Amino acid sequence: MDRRRFFQFASVGLAAGAAGAAAVHFGGRASDAMAAAPLRSYPFDPMTERNFEQKLFIPGSSGPFGVLDVAGPLQIRTTAATFPILDGQPSPFLLYQTEQGGKAYQNPILRMETGSRLRASLVNGLAEPTIIHWHGLHTPAAMDGHPASTIGPGGRYDYDFTVNDRGGTYWYHTHAHELTAEQAYGGLASFFLVEDEDQRRLARALDLRLGETDLPLVIQDKQFDQAGRLRYQPDMHESMMGWMGDIILANLTPNAVLSVTPRLYRFRLLNGSNARIYRLAFVKGGQLLNFSVIGSDAGLLEKPETATEVFLAPGERMDVLFDAGQAQPGDDVFLRSLAFDPMDNQGGDAMPGGAGGGMQGMGGMGMGGMMARMMAGSSRLPLGTAFNVMRLSVTPGERVSAPIPARLSDIRPIPTQGAAGRSIELSMGRMRFLINGRTFRMDEVSFDVRRGAVELWSISNPGHGMPHPMHIHGFSFQVVERRNSPRQVKAAARFSGGRLVGDLGWKDTVLVWPGETVKIALNFAHSFPGDQTYVFHCHNLEHEDAGMMINYRVTG
Ligand code: C2O
Ligand code: CU
Ligand code: CU
Repeated sequence: MDRRRFFQFASVGLAAGAAGAAAVHFGGRASDAMAAAPLRSYPFDPMTERNFEQKLFIPGSSGPFGVLDVAGPLQIRTTAATFPILDGQPSPFLLYQTEQGGKAYQNPILRMETGSRLRASLVNGLAEPTIIHWHGLHTPAAMDGHPASTIGPGGRYDYDFTVNDRGGTYWYHTHAHELTAEQAYGGLASFFLVEDEDQRRLARALDLRLGETDLPLVIQDKQFDQAGRLRYQPDMHESMMGWMGDIILANLTPNAVLSVTPRLYRFRLLNGSNARIYRLAFVKGGQLLNFSVIGSDAGLLEKPETATEVFLAPGERMDVLFDAGQAQPGDDVFLRSLAFDPMDNQGGDAMPGGAGGGMQGMGGMGMGGMMARMMAGSSRLPLGTAFNVMRLSVTPGERVSAPIPARLSDIRPIPTQGAAGRSIELSMGRMRFLINGRTFRMDEVSFDVRRGAVELWSISNPGHGMPHPMHIHGFSFQVVERRNSPRQVKAAARFSGGRLVGDLGWKDTVLVWPGETVKIALNFAHSFPGDQTYVFHCHNLEHEDAGMMINYRVTG
């Protein structure tokens, strides 16, 4: 596949826009803010606290990323359009367009009640193949957006399934065979929120209102060319390691600021980046502030967990509550990605640099830092460098405080007694990353699992590798144990089995660090007729497209 095709194609999209296909622009506040703060002066000092002046884009009830309460069959059309991100400059962007009740939406945030039925026809208006995958939802294989379901230009795919998942923050994105990375980066992704009684109880207790005090927040890193247009041109090395941006976007807003009053906010964090891992914290001055982790990939945790930092890998979600009342009116709090060493664990405890050096990331330590710099490729921000994502500007207001409910939901541990074990070995061979020694082949099923079986998978990553966020389609899992974790991970492990706060609850994506073995429990019970073939893959999207993916089949 020609990796450059997307941009050629996108310029065709621009022309098509002029000819009548919709070119989409942010309305209202976001574009005003963009006009006010030209990005020519964007500071590339990644730790700068200046220039965080562009109002965070907040989804409304229609238009770009508008919240769409699904009330009937949808037609979703993929379209090449433009979108102003940097400096208000129109940039090529791919969109899911739909409408309901007379309102138009682009990349809508779909919202549904658990137990309700989704009927959607995807119509491919692109000049290249595509398909939608519902990340985290438990659907029959034919509804999942398996790469084999990819449709050509002008093609159509009908989805019809019941959303039986727990209330939570899911997402949907393209899964086009070998084109997922460039299409997702180019725009084809948004949130999918599932509502249930647990979610409503929490929202009532804490006065959480979507779009006001409950904010979906997708964090991405992108590159732009001189004209402010989105750039995606991985060379061979970047295709192998993963594409890194050097401008950090929160809801597509660079240098974002959000005004908050002294009260609790829910942030539904999604790492929508192709390859970048974040180590997120709320920082005031030099101080890390507390927040509560209340949910992970597939819904709420049993109870809130206090944290000061969390790792968030591509594909993962984390729901957090942050109390802005910890700061004073006039204060700035930064949502920051702290430094870390992505390649730690390569040489065991004897590595120069030590734990301290590792924690400080790029402080001229050994192999890890060098590898990270190598990985950065054309990006000015190596993986593991610290930078700010967003500024929270605390404004005067009445202090509102309400206790976070002590119990959020019920999570039953998967009964693993007598469960079969399966080992999944990540490795590298001939310039690509492999799973169990294989690279993806559409017609090859790596293994069968019996319907209703409970299995324990041990996913191991060699010490001389890189971190891989491993993701499964079809089922959620529970993280049981992390073994041989790098020091910086061990240091943050506060839960049984060496687990991190982000490992709690129901997960569909788990980060496996160099040298680690991560054990997960899966229950393959389902009620779909016949065999179901799903994929298991790395959510570093360049790795996925390069074949770091296998098919597995649930039989019976
Ligand atoms: Cu979000 Cu197969 O991926
Ligand atoms: Cu998925
Ligand atoms: Cu990977």
